[in-house]
Amino acid sequence: MKVLNFGSLNLDYTYQVSHISRPGETIRAKDVSMNLGGKGFNQSVALSRAGLACYHAGLVGEEGLEFYDACETFGIKTDYIKTVTGRCGHTVIQVDEDGQNCILLFGGANQKNSKEYVDEVLKNFDTGDIIVLQNEINELPYIIDQAFAKGMTIVLNPSPFDERLDACDLGKVSIFIFNETEGQQMTGMTTPATIVAAMAASYSNAKIVLTLGEGGSIYHHGDEELYQAAFKVATVDTTAAGDTFTGYFIAGLVKKLPMREVLINASKAAALAVTKAGAALSIPFMSEVELFNTD
Ligand code: RIB
Repeated sequence: MKVLNFGSLNLDYTYQVSHISRPGETIRAKDVSMNLGGKGFNQSVALSRAGLACYHAGLVGEEGLEFYDACETFGIKTDYIKTVTGRCGHTVIQVDEDGQNCILLFGGANQKNSKEYVDEVLKNFDTGDIIVLQNEINELPYIIDQAFAKGMTIVLNPSPFDERLDACDLGKVSIFIFNETEGQQMTGMTTPATIVAAMAASYSNAKIVLTLGEGGSIYHHGDEELYQAAFKVATVDTTAAGDTFTGYFIAGLVKKLPMREVLINASKAAALAVTKAGAALSIPFMSEVELFNTD
């Protein structure tokens, strides 16, 4: 069984600021750094650091060639990553003194996927393989349809949520992993309990995972529902915490760990990620998660 993450690769320009700038306001940044990120790439890093071999598919622009070496370093298979002309996907991220962020996303190469490229990648995968998706690339409806037709297990992190997801047949998704804002946008509900209930009613065969940041997470599937508290840490930067949770959650499932253990590992990994600055580089190794003392 193979795991494919078909997702975004972004150059993240992260600015440390006293507060997130308001409309019409100009503020000075205290520091700036450029890191490799993108929800897709971060989730591949998390899968890999959680101990799962993973293929990444996606497009980089001409200034994104360092993704190839980075993937090799992180242990991600690059066979299906392609370079296209034009700009790489990139973001401008403001991180405030409390570690909260605000992200401006430019799609770039991530929006240049074609049906031919999707077919070229998916022909290497089959029934029982897992595909991990987010909402930062184009052709998502086609990828979902083709992966489903092949009998792949589809994991969707509907992030960032926008109207483009309306074109996707979400009934083909086996596992949804999303945060409270995305849950509200998908269901129109406002509390964690009602969001989970609405998703479970709409997609009764799917596994539903709602992450609530400091509020923990909820897992629901059929008659089983588990709540997992978050682990308390000093927040430096919340960027990629959700991606870390997603990668560790999927890795735990693939390893067939008991669901409580899956949730604990994913929560510990996400907590460790917020103690470090940056996206992919903040994602811990499994060995760090195992050593994480939560007392
Ligand atoms: O989830 C964090 C990621 O979202 C960042 O790395 C940035 O690239 C945006 O896609």
